[in-house]
Amino acid sequence: MKISIIGTGYVGLVSAVGLAELGHQVWAVNRTPEKIAKLQQGELIFFEPGLDKLLRKNLKNKRLYFTTDFAAAVNNSDFVFICVGTPPKADGSADLSAVKVVAGQIAQAARKNLIVINKSTVPVGTGRLVEKILKSNGHKFEVVSCPEFLREGRAVYDFLNPDRIVVGATKQAVGRKVMSLFAKLKTHKLVTARETAELIKYAANAFLATKISFINEIANVCEKVGANVEQVAQGIGLDKRINPYFLKAGIGYGGSCFPKDVKALKQIAGSMGYDFKLLKAVIEVNNGQRQNFINKIKKELVSLAYKNIAVLGLAFKDNTDDIRESAAIDIVRALEKAGATIKTYDPEAMATAKRVLSRKTVFCDSAYAAAAKADALVIATEWPAFAGLNWAKVKQLMKGKIIFDGKNLLDQAKVEKLGFKYFSVGK
Ligand SMILES: NC(=O)c1ccc[n+]([C@@H]2O[C@H](COP(=O)([O-])OP(=O)(O)OC[C@H]3O[C@@H](n4cnc5c(N)ncnc54)[C@H](O)[C@@H]3O)[C@@H](O)[C@H]2O)c1
Repeated sequence: MKISIIGTGYVGLVSAVGLAELGHQVWAVNRTPEKIAKLQQGELIFFEPGLDKLLRKNLKNKRLYFTTDFAAAVNNSDFVFICVGTPPKADGSADLSAVKVVAGQIAQAARKNLIVINKSTVPVGTGRLVEKILKSNGHKFEVVSCPEFLREGRAVYDFLNPDRIVVGATKQAVGRKVMSLFAKLKTHKLVTARETAELIKYAANAFLATKISFINEIANVCEKVGANVEQVAQGIGLDKRINPYFLKAGIGYGGSCFPKDVKALKQIAGSMGYDFKLLKAVIEVNNGQRQNFINKIKKELVSLAYKNIAVLGLAFKDNTDDIRESAAIDIVRALEKAGATIKTYDPEAMATAKRVLSRKTVFCDSAYAAAAKADALVIATEWPAFAGLNWAKVKQLMKGKIIFDGKNLLDQAKVEKLGFKYFSVGK
């Protein structure tokens, strides 16, 4: 099939490469010529493991093309995927301006009938809105919702091995046609009404965020009663009705999706006169989790003025360079505000973090360089490489001997045996 993808961010580029891998002819559109030039050369414009290999393979196979020419791409296609960002507005609702711009561009450029598929995460009713914008063009359009569930850092695997594919359409036949694009993927396939598909995406992210806030609340109780949250999580996670995933206590969720999607769902419900109390608590707990951790550091170090603190990790999670809504960034800022000097290292997110952190922040070439002469060390991203550091060497390099592990990443017994004073979450 012939497909256009509008937007080449985490979702757009992975979808373009993934759909080409499934055998389709794909034109991916970005407005920036420099980015298109890089992609045409087989170079990634952000870090995502395994994506470069498949990108180059499908460029070589001539199944994947990159262009700034919106009209040419769209008129060469039967399906157009909208994969642009939908960031939060000040009131928590999703900013649909990029989606509307793209719908307007399709309305202007299309010279044929098309199926337009929304892969961006959008509020219920956006399909109808896009349909309305497209009406000004005389051709026939079907507007379908096909939410994306990939995880950054594992995006290629997730796209090609999804737990399920959801397609929401106003006509079953159109839904099935869009589903046929994924015929090669053997998984659960759900064709629903368009509004249902739009809501499934928000409900999925809100549920996962709720699990995280729940285990963080349990962690806070654990600290008060002397229990161990990891063992509690294991103990409840072995129950098949609960399952062990997303029960990791820490400094709360971040990233480009959970925070904005939870806020957006709360706002969508509110705009329809429904007070989604549970989500209010989920957000409050998540914000509190970062603050609790910062307070723990401040309490132990008494004063942060003139203290050197090593912060390992800046990305919102491991295996990505994405720092959107990253707890690590908030922690660096809060510690600097309290007078500490921060030396930091992240395997992939240094360039993105440099754009948002202050000039005072010292970016180091390695975790060891960040640890040198530090009074305390903070783990803020769960990069497995941090667990594998030579902690005896870290101890030698540091001035102090305190570790604050915001991700419960390290083996407590091991680091304590080395003489570290170890603080984690819920233990
Ligand atoms: N990142 C994730 O893990 C993830 C997972 C599932 C769903 N989503 C959803 O998918 C959507 C995209 O997320 P993302 O992380 O890929 O965002 P992103 O910020 O990485 O990428 C957005 C892309 O849209 C492009 N764009 C914006 N306006 C455009 C226009 N008018 N014409 C052409 N391109 C335009 C940008 O240049 C960029 O390439 C969001 O709604 C997000 O909530 C994201």
